[in-house]
Amino acid sequence: MALWRDAQRRLFHRLLTNARMHNAQEACHTIQQTQLAGVRWHSNKPLDAVYSGPAAASPKRVTLRTLREKYKRGEPISMVTAYDYPSAVHVDEAGIDMLLVGDSVAMVVHGHDTTLPITMDEMLSHCKAAARGAQRAFLVGDMPFGSVCKVAAELVMAVEVGPEHAVRSAIRMMKEGGMDGVKIEGGFTSRARSVAAVVEAGVAVMGHVGLTPQSISVLGGFRPAAQSASEALRVIKEAKALEAAGCFSIVLECVPALVAAAVTRELGIPTIGIGAGGGTSGQVLVYHDLLGMMQHPHHAKVTPKFCKQYSAVGAVIQEALTAYHADVVGGHFPSEAFSPYKIAREEAQQLLRDLEREGLQDAAEAVAGLTPQD
Ligand code: KIV
Repeated sequence: MALWRDAQRRLFHRLLTNARMHNAQEACHTIQQTQLAGVRWHSNKPLDAVYSGPAAASPKRVTLRTLREKYKRGEPISMVTAYDYPSAVHVDEAGIDMLLVGDSVAMVVHGHDTTLPITMDEMLSHCKAAARGAQRAFLVGDMPFGSVCKVAAELVMAVEVGPEHAVRSAIRMMKEGGMDGVKIEGGFTSRARSVAAVVEAGVAVMGHVGLTPQSISVLGGFRPAAQSASEALRVIKEAKALEAAGCFSIVLECVPALVAAAVTRELGIPTIGIGAGGGTSGQVLVYHDLLGMMQHPHHAKVTPKFCKQYSAVGAVIQEALTAYHADVVGGHFPSEAFSPYKIAREEAQQLLRDLEREGLQDAAEAVAGLTPQD
């Protein structure tokens, strides 16, 4: 308890001295909210600090420093999406470096046609669940459509626009979602401004260029990017602008391997490819795609071209559910082996007498039929 109080005091002090905290009341509120939410501490905290009382030693966290060192040594960086507690545990246990709570959740979990409908609050709910499951991986929360630049309807009533909105959203990802950093999609000049503001606010940002599904409306569909010289040059320039704005890494989605290799050579930060060939600093895949789980039809059209399926988990799940259904309708489940809770014979006999006294005849007959008599 003393340790816990001491940890709280230290956290309180640290929050107070943090330039982003304006007063003691706000710091107190943050501590309370964080405790209530059971948020995982960010990986940029000292590794040996105990903030939540004596706990089992957790695995060494992946931090930006770890990632930079891997990059400098030329070691490939692995990244996978995950959207909830069990998937985050699996990703963590597999030793994967970065876990992305991607807005692809809109399609592969929520069943939407695009990534556009997912809201900030829905993303935060997924972030919180994933953060509880991952003890080691560096956690990146995807900023959903409309969370970086205000959507048109909001602009009409705008009190604030652009970077301020992005900073506010990014801080929610960190404070409420328990993320270690955020991903901001798109390479427009306005995005670079937002990236700079978010980094300035103290949040690590991953960029994302090439196919940017949040821009599906202007792209005219899910299609590969940078297949002409002019488009490729634009992607390279966008990646450079995002690096200059402070991104710690950049996702390159669905671009020719040659273009991805050119971006990777040009930048001094890791590139993480998806459908971008083997010349990037690391790779990312969507959890459901690589495991061969049920795929959203739109997704299924595109992903098999570049996504190696490491399992057929969807088929395994289907087979298990079909077998369970057959067992239940056939009266085979639960058998005696799966009926673990017992009532002593004397208690059952007493229950029988009580039921008869209360006139609950049907229940009494059921109990009588199942109770061994003397
Ligand atoms: O949302 C997502 O899963 C992504 C990856 C495809 C990089 O952005």
